Amino acid sequence: MSTTSILVLNGPNLSRLGKREPEIYGHQTIDDINRELSVSFPDISFEFFQSEHEGAMTEKLFEAEDRGSFRGVVLNAGAFTHYSIALRDAISAVKLPVIEVHLSNVHAREPFRRTSVISEVCRGVISGFGAGSYHLGVRALLGEV
Ligand code: DQA
Repeated sequence: MSTTSILVLNGPNLSRLGKREPEIYGHQTIDDINRELSVSFPDISFEFFQSEHEGAMTEKLFEAEDRGSFRGVVLNAGAFTHYSIALRDAISAVKLPVIEVHLSNVHAREPFRRTSVISEVCRGVISGFGAGSYHLGVRALLGEV
């Protein structure tokens, strides 16, 4: 039986988790969140990638598709969620299912966060459960929700 692989893709400023506005994003670092995912889903082979750069994220999506081994992508696009047409087009361009996740409830915050230019091309959206949003995203890709 082949291993299921999932790409966890994080965008700008998520490298600062733990230090960044902990009242909104919690105290865990991105490494803490990634480690917990590996522990919670021991049968999944995760690849974790974070970038501050839009192009690096689109390239990673294309690479993931070309490698042909990923079940799908759990994506926290950070602020790119709200305005990156390039990222939206890249999600549309690949056949991999992409689950949009957010630590915070973007609908309970500033009005500009209520707009996502990527939701329409993602398989689904999970927002507001802290690190649990990533876990739910993985479960969605596994068909467990
Ligand atoms: C975020 C919400 C975005 O609005 C914000 O720009 C982020 C993080 C979240 O996980 O809650 O960087 O995606």
